[in-house]
Amino acid sequence: MRLPETYSLPFPVFMAGADGRIQTANAAFERLLPDRVGTPWMAVFPDLDPDAFSHQWERVAHGDAPLTVSAGMVTTGDQTRFFDVICQPLLDSETDPLRLLGVLVDVTAQTQQEAENAALLDTAVDAIVIIDDQGRIETFNPAATRLFGYRPEEVVGRPVSDLMPEPHRSRHDAYMQRYMETGEQRIIGIGRELEALDRHGRKIPIYLAVSEILQKGRRRFTGIIRDLSEQRAARAALAEQREKLAHVGRLSTMGEMTASIAHEINQPLTAISMYAQSSLKLIEKGDVDLDKLAGALEKLNTQSLRAGAIIERIQRFARAQENQRELVQVNTLLQELVKLAEGDARIHDVEITFDLADGLPAVYCDPIQIQQVALNLIRNAIDAMKDGAAATGSAMVIQSRLEGDGRIEVAVSDQGPGVAPDQRNLLFRPFHTTKKDGMGMGLSICRTIIAEHGGEMGHRDNPGGGATFYFTLPQAGERDD
Ligand SMILES: Nc1ncnc2c1ncn2[C@@H]1O[C@H](COP(=O)(O)OP(=O)(O)O)[C@@H](O)[C@H]1O
Ligand SMILES: [Mg+2]
Repeated sequence: MRLPETYSLPFPVFMAGADGRIQTANAAFERLLPDRVGTPWMAVFPDLDPDAFSHQWERVAHGDAPLTVSAGMVTTGDQTRFFDVICQPLLDSETDPLRLLGVLVDVTAQTQQEAENAALLDTAVDAIVIIDDQGRIETFNPAATRLFGYRPEEVVGRPVSDLMPEPHRSRHDAYMQRYMETGEQRIIGIGRELEALDRHGRKIPIYLAVSEILQKGRRRFTGIIRDLSEQRAARAALAEQREKLAHVGRLSTMGEMTASIAHEINQPLTAISMYAQSSLKLIEKGDVDLDKLAGALEKLNTQSLRAGAIIERIQRFARAQENQRELVQVNTLLQELVKLAEGDARIHDVEITFDLADGLPAVYCDPIQIQQVALNLIRNAIDAMKDGAAATGSAMVIQSRLEGDGRIEVAVSDQGPGVAPDQRNLLFRPFHTTKKDGMGMGLSICRTIIAEHGGEMGHRDNPGGGATFYFTLPQAGERDD
């Protein structure tokens, strides 16, 4: 018997008897699988598990609905294809033996696509998590297991918010709902840095990129998650290196300034000794004018506080410290700092003057590091003027002002020889110096510090000769990271 109604259909169809043997098949079936009539149909599909099939078959056998099974691979000649089989029960009314009408559906392309997808998911370096439109995890690839510590079977079906720390965990449903309703994109198609939560409750810095897949009318979301831990650690290590370099720079500046610092401290010490001697003389003379004595002791005390303050400033400046940012007024920083440089300036007969703008917005910075930058510029200016031929009474101007773009600029102008054109590109290079005992690290460290603060550094020629070195800083609140 042929299958007249199905004979010319383009897909393979067969009929099997109650004994499970193929009774008849259509032309497409014969072409694909010749000479199978009379053999058990299940033998055509080696991947099919007969027990599992029988179990499912029993449940549909006496109803009308067909059963679709994934029958697996069929190899004929040099062809390998994958099939689903739609199994329709057919009841023979007289003897009631159960027959089966099977329709083979070629799913090779789909299977290959799925296999490729699975291979992609398996070998991806990044964690990939696919969720449904309810936010439940559908797919969890091996990289996701490495990142989060969960095996797929532990998380599939669970809400993806389990992988997020608070506050995102509780807000995730609302995020999704808003997206579904408004299409407003916060993450989807954009990608951003976030934190994820692993099985041990550890927060992991991640980069998350989400894309939406619409397939067969179903909405799903694929999240590609990159672990940023190493990148963050490298960044922290780099920051630490820079911090150390800045510290070494401060120490070496202090080293260069020992002569002027010693001179600075010697002044109050000399004064202290002087007031002590005159107090002693008052006492020796036997004529103790208590008012005079008190006045001398008062001055003595002031001078010892002054010496102490100098030492305090040096200690504060030279101390190693972690990058500590505070809200500060640049003008205050500069005025405070100049006390450190005054001795140096005086020794070299350089006058320091201020031109500070009123009402500047605060900056968020590491005060010691910014002072370090300013001190480097001031010391370079002093160097430039002391090396100049007739430097008597040279003046340096320390200026602060608000730029048009809202940044704050600090500039140090000198009346030295200026920067020679062939030197312009070299100034900020490490170890570039034109001084016989210079180290050439000053400007290079300055530029690093300023860049870390989100500012810029540069120099320009003064109209009346000499150079101006400046740096800019964003005002507080401008960078909200
Ligand atoms: N105010 C200035 N006027 C002229 N040249 C300067 C000035 N400041 C810096 N320079 C030049 O830049 C070079 C590098 O400066 P810096 O990095 O501070 O190292 P150093 O002061 O140890 O030489 C100096 O050697 C000098 O040639
Ligand atoms: Mg220098």
